[in-house]
Amino acid sequence: MKRTVISMAALAACACAFNAHAQKFDGLADTPQMGWNSWNTFACDINEQLIKDTADAMVKNGLKDAGYQYVNIDDCWHGKRDETGVIHPDKERFPSGMKALADYVHSKGLKIGIYSDVGATTCGGRPGSRGYEYQDARTYASWGIDYIKYDWCDSKGLSSVGAYTTMRDAIRAAGRPMLFSICEWGDTKPWEWAKDVGHSWRTTGDIHMCFDCEFSEASYSRWGVLQILDKQAGLRVHAGPGHWNDMDMLEVGRGFTEDEDRTHFAAWSMLASPLILGNDVRKMSEATKRILTNKAVIGINQDKLGIQAWRFLQSGQLEYWAKPLANDEWAVMILNRSDEVKPVTYQWSTSRINDDANKRVLDTTKTVFNWTDAWTGKTGDTSKKLESKLAPHGAIVLRLKARS
Ligand code: GLA
Repeated sequence: MKRTVISMAALAACACAFNAHAQKFDGLADTPQMGWNSWNTFACDINEQLIKDTADAMVKNGLKDAGYQYVNIDDCWHGKRDETGVIHPDKERFPSGMKALADYVHSKGLKIGIYSDVGATTCGGRPGSRGYEYQDARTYASWGIDYIKYDWCDSKGLSSVGAYTTMRDAIRAAGRPMLFSICEWGDTKPWEWAKDVGHSWRTTGDIHMCFDCEFSEASYSRWGVLQILDKQAGLRVHAGPGHWNDMDMLEVGRGFTEDEDRTHFAAWSMLASPLILGNDVRKMSEATKRILTNKAVIGINQDKLGIQAWRFLQSGQLEYWAKPLANDEWAVMILNRSDEVKPVTYQWSTSRINDDANKRVLDTTKTVFNWTDAWTGKTGDTSKKLESKLAPHGAIVLRLKARS
């Protein structure tokens, strides 16, 4: 009898250890991750000096202080595998090696990310991790990597759940906490299976540098800001602390109008998407810097409840989004989809805004809320009609707090 009890206990301990082993690292993305990624601006034209200069710039221009933590190297850093299968960086572009680069980035108080792919080759035709998952995760850990973006090219014949779970387990086994960013473009609805696999998952194909367009390639499309926003419908219930819907890297500072940049940044913030910058942060205009370091908007993105906004009202080309925040505060965004100036008039006191999924109500019929405009700092309250004018593709973002 005693022996049975002991072996049952041993079994339970073993199952527990197995479960712990199979989990992703928790606590790495309690709020959406913030950082920078090389792809949108530099594509394959990357090297160690660029990464170092980017880290330096992020410290100097206030991005680090604003919360951007990760410096992520996307595709094309790879050299070859050696005879034992170990992957090495491109010798010409990263002559000092990844460990030295990681040490440099860490010395600036930042973290470093890298990119790989489920297939034998990455989207850029470099060596992917298929068949080398455990070895690659160990190599990245030995370099001091903190973040892995894992892409979906050359995935033929693979189950997405299987391929991403294998890499998750490989990361876990490597023993270094590394944030796992799934980049599967929403192909197999990762929001339905990836909660315990990755810390975030891309919901769509790649972003394209346009505010309102679909850019078609032969076999896939890239998407504008409004198209990506529309594709989030219904996904909010799947996101929360530690598992985010990723709307792709930001195009702020890459050629939009200032209003479009603000709207793009506000929308990603309202929808609790990771905020991964895609611009050249070594050369930013003052306007771009102001947008990307706006504390009030970032505060909405980083709110600890981690509830994604939803569109509660559409009226012509104007749409209204709400996000419940901690301490019964709220954020409301009103967005002008059109390319004309639009007047806004909103009567707060006539409606309750219900978030059924999270059992939260913004009841401006009974309670007066004070609001602050996140961009301008202007204040007002919900006892009066909201009257404003929105620029083409512009948005207003308000933070609401009940009047005590
Ligand atoms: C895919 C990803 C992009 C980028 C490129 C790199 O298209 O979705 O974000 O990583 O590959 O080749």
